[in-house]
Amino acid sequence: MPLRVRSCRICVSALIVAIISLTLSSAFAQSGSATPGSKPWMNAKLSPDERASLVLKEMTLDEKISLLHGTGMRGLGPMSPLSVRSNGGAGYVVGVPRLGIPDIQMSDAAYGVRSSGENGRYSTALPSDVAAAASWDLDAAYEYGALIGRELRAQGYNMSLGGGVNLTREPRNGRTFEYLGEDPVLAGSLVAQVMKGLQAQHVIGDIKHYALNDQESGRNAVNVNIDERSMRESDLLPFQIALRQTNIAAVMCSYNRLNGDYACENKHLLTDIVKKDWNFKGFVLSDWGGTHSTVKASAAGLDHEEPAEIFYGPSMKNAVEAGQVPIAEIDDHVHRILRSMFACGVVDDPLERSVVDVVGGLEVAQKIAEQSIVLLKNSQSLLPLDAGKIASIAVIGPHADVGMISGGGSAQVDPPGGNAIMPPGQGRTKWQDQVWFPTSPLKTIKAKVAHATVQYDPGTDASSAAAAAKSADVAIVFAYQWESEGMDLDNLSLPGNQDDLIAKVAAANPHTVVVLETGGPVTMPWADQVGGILEAWYAGSGGADAVANLLFGDVNPSAKLPITFPKSVDDLPHRNVVKPPKKATTEGEPDGWKRIAAGLPAFQITYDEGLEVGYKWYDAKEKSVLFPFGYGLSYTSYNYSNLTVTPGKNVRVSFTVTNTGGQAGAEIAEVYAALPQNAGEPPKRLVGWSKLKLNPGESKDVTIEIDPLYLSIFNVEKNAWQLISGDYAFLVGPSSQTLPLKESVGLK
Ligand code: NOJ
Repeated sequence: MPLRVRSCRICVSALIVAIISLTLSSAFAQSGSATPGSKPWMNAKLSPDERASLVLKEMTLDEKISLLHGTGMRGLGPMSPLSVRSNGGAGYVVGVPRLGIPDIQMSDAAYGVRSSGENGRYSTALPSDVAAAASWDLDAAYEYGALIGRELRAQGYNMSLGGGVNLTREPRNGRTFEYLGEDPVLAGSLVAQVMKGLQAQHVIGDIKHYALNDQESGRNAVNVNIDERSMRESDLLPFQIALRQTNIAAVMCSYNRLNGDYACENKHLLTDIVKKDWNFKGFVLSDWGGTHSTVKASAAGLDHEEPAEIFYGPSMKNAVEAGQVPIAEIDDHVHRILRSMFACGVVDDPLERSVVDVVGGLEVAQKIAEQSIVLLKNSQSLLPLDAGKIASIAVIGPHADVGMISGGGSAQVDPPGGNAIMPPGQGRTKWQDQVWFPTSPLKTIKAKVAHATVQYDPGTDASSAAAAAKSADVAIVFAYQWESEGMDLDNLSLPGNQDDLIAKVAAANPHTVVVLETGGPVTMPWADQVGGILEAWYAGSGGADAVANLLFGDVNPSAKLPITFPKSVDDLPHRNVVKPPKKATTEGEPDGWKRIAAGLPAFQITYDEGLEVGYKWYDAKEKSVLFPFGYGLSYTSYNYSNLTVTPGKNVRVSFTVTNTGGQAGAEIAEVYAALPQNAGEPPKRLVGWSKLKLNPGESKDVTIEIDPLYLSIFNVEKNAWQLISGDYAFLVGPSSQTLPLKESVGLK
């Protein structure tokens, strides 16, 4: 059945919401978007820098300063009277109407537009960011960003707060779902495409949280200790790659301290690295309440304070007038903001609200989910299920009858019609809610097997679920783990009785398939007992259709893990998430702000595993894992052959992939490099990949050019990347632990 018909319930309710809210918002006026006649900077033929310089010359000090801060956010400190013109998003910056510089309306938008609910409007929830990373698909990443960009503009926003690209050093981080996994090259390349797609819609993009905000516990108080080389080669590298590949307008600095200084007043991070070494032309804005000073932050390179004007409003003006902040510094901050506005098209293309394309959004969300869901286990080809042969299915698991879970915090997208597990009419979702999208696996499974009996059991009582499983041909258990900003996970186990539930169901029926709805890795003590495992992540608005299509073989799985699934938390670099001392606890809204402003006693995390992030840790420590980085199965099979490696400015790695099975599929072929011994690196690193569509029996030759940066190490003494002379081994295959092809070459 076509998607348009299947999704009609959601579409109709969402369209109604969107149309009503568009009508309600007709009074919305885009302050500052009026065309200022024939101002020279409105000449779009000039470069963004030229245009910014022309505007800057006309601006008063007050106008300059008004661009350097937000106007307040409810529950997070003082509100400016001007905030009434805010569109309801996380940030609102007053423009300069007399010069034709529009307001900046910012909304969180990690996997969809966050601030829709407050305005009663509709947004598509895409699969979570880590899910999209599992597609390893640059085109899908572009579409991901483009969809968010279109929906932001439709809802009256011209700046996105998405682009989370912190590397997963700590998989218990409550925001793992918002990031792009544990590899810098994969994460950086993907976020670059998300931003390209987003900014092409005339929306200012940002990447965050710069840097090393790798856990939520005590994020405002923690001081992260890490050595320069490790951070440059790991945590900062995705930012560097993204900024090199796309002209991203903004970087959001993070809450934590890094090697002593808060990230948002850390000169080394903001000026030495981003602005000088990486030649970043855009602006740095603080995370919400992450600014801690005026003079120090400004000199360190922070361009803009959010959400209010504690340090960058009147205090900044006083500091300028007292000669503590040079006007050239202010001009640089303002220039960066203006040039970003011109570069992203928000000046030339003023905001105009429109109705969100609900059906188009669902199609994109479902398509990306289908490319994101990883098949982790498929014993005796239990999957795909044969709809024609199955007589009975037991669908088991909390809320699998009504919806699929999503990730919480500022990334949260409001579902149309409200949280699927709450009574109708409950209004906007709250920060602490576990929000389930109304995408029902039970319904989509039923729709696949019109002639079979489908029984549902919520799994609350494992024995009753086991009895339901026993009487069915196949049992499908939907298990979940919820993540949110502002918290970390205590461990990697499925919460509640879910491990026991799965074990009991699997004991009752060997044809048990587990579908995981998790933000990141979980442990699976029952993995050997079940026939199939699908990692569906937080699958978004089109999740249930995507899952059903994979279960029944309408779509052949192609996704691969962007993150290692360890066997146990004992195998992680740190036994526990380091928690702040009680008195420094700051998390949670709304009183967090007061305590942030008051200053907090620092506590320490030391990332002494250094370069060994994710699979590099398990490789170096020779620890076996449950499912490795880069791993994922398909309903067909592939063979790798004919590796040749040609040295040169860009090393060329060529090989052949053949579809040796009976179904068309897409294979992500991965290339890793082992650096010379004297480089002092973990055993191998990802340096490239290619996603190949192959029909049964078809072969394709691939050549991947390796960016020299990806083969280099960071030389701290020289403050430069360096390619070490010596023997490099190139390894090619379907996952980080299955690399059938290997060739070594000497590089100078
Ligand atoms: C704090 C979060 O860390 C950040 O990601 C978000 O964009 C802001 N709040 C605004 O909601």
